[in-house]
Amino acid sequence: MSNRKILVTSALPYANSGIHLGHLMEVIQTDIWVRLQKMRGHDCVYVCADDAHGTAIMLSAEAQGIEPEQHIERINRAHQEDFAGFHIGFDNYYTTHSEENREFAETIFARLDANGHISRRKITQLYDPEKQMFLADRFIKGTCPKCRSEDQYGDNCEVCGSTYSPTELIDPRSTISGATPIEKESEHLFFRLPEFTEFLQAWTRSGTLQTQVANKLAEWLDSGLQEWDISRDAPYFGFEIPGHPGKYFYVWVDAPIGYMASFKNLCSRSDYDFDAYWKADSDAELYHFIGKDIVNFHTLFWPSMLKSAGFRTPTAVNVHGFLTVDGKKMSKSRGTFINARTYLEHLDPEYLRYYLAAKMSDGVDDLDLNLEDFVQRVNTDLVNKFVNIASRCAGFISRGFAGQLASETAEPELIREFQLAGETIAGHFERREYSKAMREIMALADRANQYINDRQPWVLAKQNPQDPQVQAICSVGLNLFRLLVIYLKPVLPVLATKAEAFLQVDSLTWGDATTLLTGTSIGPFQPLLHRVEMDKVQAVLDATREELGQQQAASPEPVATPGGPALEAEIEIDDFFKVDLRVVRIVAAEQVAGADKLLRLELDLGHDEQGRQLSRTVFSGIKSAYDPDQLVGRLTVMVANLKPRQMKFGLSEGMVLAAGPGGKEIFLLEPDSGARPGMRVT
Ligand code: MSP
Ligand code: ZN
Repeated sequence: MSNRKILVTSALPYANSGIHLGHLMEVIQTDIWVRLQKMRGHDCVYVCADDAHGTAIMLSAEAQGIEPEQHIERINRAHQEDFAGFHIGFDNYYTTHSEENREFAETIFARLDANGHISRRKITQLYDPEKQMFLADRFIKGTCPKCRSEDQYGDNCEVCGSTYSPTELIDPRSTISGATPIEKESEHLFFRLPEFTEFLQAWTRSGTLQTQVANKLAEWLDSGLQEWDISRDAPYFGFEIPGHPGKYFYVWVDAPIGYMASFKNLCSRSDYDFDAYWKADSDAELYHFIGKDIVNFHTLFWPSMLKSAGFRTPTAVNVHGFLTVDGKKMSKSRGTFINARTYLEHLDPEYLRYYLAAKMSDGVDDLDLNLEDFVQRVNTDLVNKFVNIASRCAGFISRGFAGQLASETAEPELIREFQLAGETIAGHFERREYSKAMREIMALADRANQYINDRQPWVLAKQNPQDPQVQAICSVGLNLFRLLVIYLKPVLPVLATKAEAFLQVDSLTWGDATTLLTGTSIGPFQPLLHRVEMDKVQAVLDATREELGQQQAASPEPVATPGGPALEAEIEIDDFFKVDLRVVRIVAAEQVAGADKLLRLELDLGHDEQGRQLSRTVFSGIKSAYDPDQLVGRLTVMVANLKPRQMKFGLSEGMVLAAGPGGKEIFLLEPDSGARPGMRVT
């Protein structure tokens, strides 16, 4: 087995939302593959990063009243914690907003330009005159020109399915400011993708892609490629293009370059040699794991850019389908848009790793997380079959033989069969046929249990706990168990570590399957894995629905934006009762330096049962409609049990309720006379 040099990446998650089960499916698939390679003795490096640029991230920071840098740093920390919670073993997790990435983006752009692969021309786009920025299609809504459905996005209608250009929309408006967009011209830079058609025809057919993906690309290639718009006008959060003031690299230009930058950053504090992995004739392997929604970026633009810039191209791009939950797209209102954090609060990450592995193949089909099947599969396979082998044998060895295994192993044929399976299983892992690997492993687990059932060590031990037969049988059982631990280790790294401690062995590698445990001691057996309970799964769904409610309540806009998102979920009466609405008096109101929309309000909530005065500070986005002086002394209604939120200007401890379309027309909800601060609103 020669030592391969392998660099692996997962797609870089956007720095504008939390990690959810869909992201996890991807990194778990990648992590299992990487762990397999490492266990097999290859030099495999796994890097990733946050994709930190773009309009959405800029706006999201703005809405929180913080700088984009601060926003992406927070998200980066949260992402890393979430991934660590699922035991994703990145060798480096970085950000695209880095100096390394800026340098690579500039270098690559300069080379493309020098090679004549960049063109420039003026284009006309919709522009928000209030916010003073160009609008991408998804920031424009209006009435569909075909079926006249209202509130449709700038590029396609969700009602009739037709596609159009945003300038065709009837009554278009900017979803950012509500203003009516105007048409405006601006010069853009383009990457001359059509020049790479022949290169791509060969590259996509050279074993770099799954057949299904290659076929799809052949369709695109046949119908002709278009030049790719790689620049965006200010304001934009990203890298300014050298020589083009006010123009920025489109986020999808520097995103894949982020793979290089993350690796480069790792090189700067390790022995890895950047050029050995990225030079045009590198003998290292490079694999990208991505979802089916971003295939064109990774298989058309990216290899062409690398080619032109004189770097190596990927060995393969491994595309996976989407995760669905109970047969449907993940949905916030169904409680199935599950965040990594929420899952971890209730369930063991290795349940998910195993379940996904048991269903993953090398294809691009969607994968369904069926929650009942999840509970059953994990319990049946891992608890009843796999862990059971150890728990059935450990006690007899501990009690009858002071924890010592037999000095010779019986059943050489059975053991040989388990050892030989190792290569087949590794082959399945290598080809990303994890479900086949898991099936093979569970079939072996069945064989091991069958062996113990046939030999019935408990019957022998009843007569004589020190019967050498008992030691022989249980030592075979524990050796079989150890082999299965090796095979499952890429999927269940923590369970494997616990098993290693119990077996009192060093960290197991794939090669260890050729050896056996004889005459060594085992430690006391502790349950290696608990059963999954359905009520824990239910708790995840409930918590997810609750987060949705909180998100809607915590929206920084106090009023519904005109034509804003339709209400997403119906809530139960119990959810409604969780909202603690109180009458409050505004005792002080003041401007907030640096905030466009906010006023700082001091609120009097009356007294608690012990007669203590209750007060809160709330930042409220009502500045456009009210002078602070007008507010002092007035009664209004607040959500008193909203989780406090740290804003740029201070801690906001609730929310006051208002109605209206915005601007001057924001109306504080005011209780009828007779109400007093502290009264509950029911
Ligand atoms: N930032 C880009 C990727 C840049 S790579 C140079 C992006 N980010 S993302 O956060 O939207 O998605 C990250 C990865 O998660 C993508 O590969 C995407 O396909 C994957 N998934 C997001 N939702 C998913 C599911 N529901 N199921 C499976 N994978 C999904 O795209
Ligand atoms: Zn329509």
